[in-house]
Amino acid sequence: MGKNSKLVIIKLGGSVITNKDKPVSPNRRNIRLICRELSRAMLSDSKLRLILIHGGGSFGHYYAKKFKLGTNMTSSASPEGLARTAAAMIDLHSILLGELCRAGVYCGTILPIELFSGADNFSISLGGKNRVTSIFRNGLVPITFGYVTLIGNQASIISGDKIALALVRAFSVEKTVFVMDVDGVFPSSDLKGPVLEQLFPAQHAIQSSIKQYDVTGGIKAKISTGFGLAKLGTDVYFVNGTKSGRLFKILQGSDDVVATRIYSTKRGRFRSPK
Ligand SMILES: Nc1ncnc2c1ncn2[C@@H]1O[C@H](COP(=O)(O)OP(=O)(O)OP(=O)(O)O)[C@@H](O)[C@H]1O
Ligand SMILES: [Mg+2]
Repeated sequence: MGKNSKLVIIKLGGSVITNKDKPVSPNRRNIRLICRELSRAMLSDSKLRLILIHGGGSFGHYYAKKFKLGTNMTSSASPEGLARTAAAMIDLHSILLGELCRAGVYCGTILPIELFSGADNFSISLGGKNRVTSIFRNGLVPITFGYVTLIGNQASIISGDKIALALVRAFSVEKTVFVMDVDGVFPSSDLKGPVLEQLFPAQHAIQSSIKQYDVTGGIKAKISTGFGLAKLGTDVYFVNGTKSGRLFKILQGSDDVVATRIYSTKRGRFRSPK
């Protein structure tokens, strides 16, 4: 990564890239729209460096839920469940890679296992950092995804959101963008009314409704991860990826977008809503 480059992490939520209520169903329309936005953003700003992460939606979450896998490590996970969840994630990943290539966004895959040392899923290992750097140095966009994770005799699911947190601990990240199928964070679980423009620590307890297949904590976990990210020095955005232009604008640095933000306090910036 060059000295002047701007590093942005984009988590493509399973809620937007799949039809979350229909098992194993990609949302090609949304995937193509997002791929075009990424391509436009990269073409219009040569300093922009992206790291992509995607979630599981109705691929990974479906099998994880079916086989009762979760984010807590366990030694009694079903081998069939682990294998089917992993296979579904790789299927979704492959669909995404195809569409990214079609849009001219050429990516290098990193399995989560390559990012961590094998002892925990908390911090990116030196090998993981080198892998990210080497992908950039070959002109590619690093991409990884929520997946099954094995440590010793234990297994669990690691969410894409948590991978974002680990990456922000390891790199200097300007922004982290969570792309979802809704306009941002709503104050209540009926998803009605305008979204909150900005979240403050007191709003940790947003009401949420959990979608049918979700084993990694849905919006609640995402918000608490968002506060963790902001503390580390990155601005956080929750944006609707089904609406043309929004992700692009955020990547361009415009703040005039319907979205929810958590501004980093670490950089000494404290902005009030418009
Ligand atoms: N108060 C709320 N504000 C915004 N979204 C909410 C709220 N309550 C529930 N949701 C739901 O949370 C979803 C986003 O979280 P979820 O974990 O389901 O998606 P994701 O992270 O995009 O998917 P994945 O975990 O597969 O990557 C939205 O699709 C929305 O339906
Ligand atoms: Mg999620």
